[in-house]
Amino acid sequence: MRDDTTPVPRIVLMRGDITEQHVDAVVNAANSGLTGGGGVDGAILRAGGPAQRAAREALVDRIGSLPTGEAAATDAGDMPARWVIHVVGPVWSGKEDRSALLASCYSKALAVADELGARTVAFPAVSAGVYGWPMRSAAEIALTTVLATPTEVSEVRFVLFDESAHAEFTAVLQDL
Ligand code: APR
Repeated sequence: MRDDTTPVPRIVLMRGDITEQHVDAVVNAANSGLTGGGGVDGAILRAGGPAQRAAREALVDRIGSLPTGEAAATDAGDMPARWVIHVVGPVWSGKEDRSALLASCYSKALAVADELGARTVAFPAVSAGVYGWPMRSAAEIALTTVLATPTEVSEVRFVLFDESAHAEFTAVLQDL
């Protein structure tokens, strides 16, 4: 875990579209087959264009599928970012605690960013859309995990799509 010598990334909370971010890497809330979908995934596939689609197909050829809680990178294609780091968040369950899998998306994405040499990384609220995770809990897991993960990333930018998501992340960060 973090010690006194480990640099802490600057946390930025903003509203916006993750596909437009001028960062080294954007994180995609993907599915295991990297097939694209709605939400962030569809937006990244559209914005990244044919190069993003081809990069995903090459990744799937290499690894088969991306398990829940894991992270893997492709080139971004036609976006300002250089890389997309794909993570697969868990589907929300009211019965089973899947928090560790959601936390793993953030810690493993930062590990991949370190391998790439990415210094600025933009995250969406993974699992908090189609996968149904309550936004307050998603924000708590996202922020506590990023702040507890040793990384050379200097800026972690949470790009929240709507005002309520931004408000939840802001409230959680103020309480940490
Ligand atoms: N930029 C930033 N945030 C966005 C964008 C965007 N362009 N589009 C949507 N969001 C927000 C949503 O409002 C939600 O708060 O990102 C959050 C995550 O939502 P989803 O993209 O639905 O991700 P998730 O809940 O993890 O569901 C993943 O959805 O698109 C499919 O293939 C994907 O099966 C996978 C599932």
